[in-house]
Amino acid sequence: MMDPILEVKNLTKHFKTKYGLLHAVDGIDLTLERGKTLGLVGESGCGKSTTGRLILKLIEPTTGQIIFDGKDITNYKNRAMKEIRRDMMFIFQDPYSSLDPRKTVSQIISEPIIANNILKKSSDIEDRVTELMTTVGLAERLYNTYPHELDGGRRQRIGIARAIAMEPKFIICDEPVSALDVSIQAQILNLLKELQRKLGLSYIFITHDLSVVNHFSDDIAVMYLGKIVERAPAEELFLNPLHPYTKALLSAIPVPELDVKMERILIKGEISSPINPGEECRFAKRCYFCQDICMKEPKLLEYSPQHFVACHRAEELKGLEGGL
Ligand SMILES: Nc1ncnc2c1ncn2[C@@H]1O[C@H](COP(=O)(O)OP(=O)(O)O)[C@@H](O)[C@H]1O
Ligand SMILES: [Mg+2]
Repeated sequence: MMDPILEVKNLTKHFKTKYGLLHAVDGIDLTLERGKTLGLVGESGCGKSTTGRLILKLIEPTTGQIIFDGKDITNYKNRAMKEIRRDMMFIFQDPYSSLDPRKTVSQIISEPIIANNILKKSSDIEDRVTELMTTVGLAERLYNTYPHELDGGRRQRIGIARAIAMEPKFIICDEPVSALDVSIQAQILNLLKELQRKLGLSYIFITHDLSVVNHFSDDIAVMYLGKIVERAPAEELFLNPLHPYTKALLSAIPVPELDVKMERILIKGEISSPINPGEECRFAKRCYFCQDICMKEPKLLEYSPQHFVACHRAEELKGLEGGL
């Protein structure tokens, strides 16, 4: 019954910096079932985009394994990756900066079709571009317009059209609605959902905003400083968050205790850094429930079926309501 399109094992990316080793992604395990959505959630800088780039093999992992569609692609080099690349696409946060401003909508969308020699006759290419535009809800009259003439929602639709042009199996959506007005966010999310159903797509959906993935993800993984701290089916995570960080993210209003603690820590110069992290739980310095035991890094353990959490005190915190 399990049919994962993607499995990531102990995936790690350490960047060498002049201050030391930056642990951008630090031994994460993920599984994405075919046709499903995995939400990857966490604050800016926690390693979400690096995870995306590693999976698409845009950068090389320090260690770990990436199994895509039954193939271990960890050591695939350029030529072997070329075939696979058609099946894996990226949608970015800022459609404007990822779209070539000198190209028209049709040129942008047709680019992968032409580059990969999918269609040769210009009338066939035109037909396909028009079809793709219709699929993503772009009016045909926009065929020869430029991205700067369009609003953020339409630009993101161009990015989506280009991403699905090669009929991929899997798309990493990296904050695809974060730059958009709330009213437009819902339209783009609905479009992505509809395309998933129609085309059988599997998504990793990256966001810093848990509320965005609420009704969108099948499973959610919460990331903190390079680690997965909690992972569960979406509904379970929202009903029953176990990790203090997840609880903090879920409490819609700002968390006063957390702010106070952070401020004090900032003054002491102890803010957690991804560079040369210590042995303690990475959230320890900001955690309201931190105890001596938290000076040892907790493992990600399965607390109930399919619900994983990395917190020594998860069992005790189970009953605690919502936020901190
Ligand atoms: N090429 C790089 N060289 C050095 N550090 C990097 C590089 N890319 C990302 N980082 C660092 O890795 C961490 C995670 O970054 P990123 O994956 O972009 O986070 P997110 O997408 O969650 O905001 C950050 O501390 C960032 O500064
Ligand atoms: Mg990012």
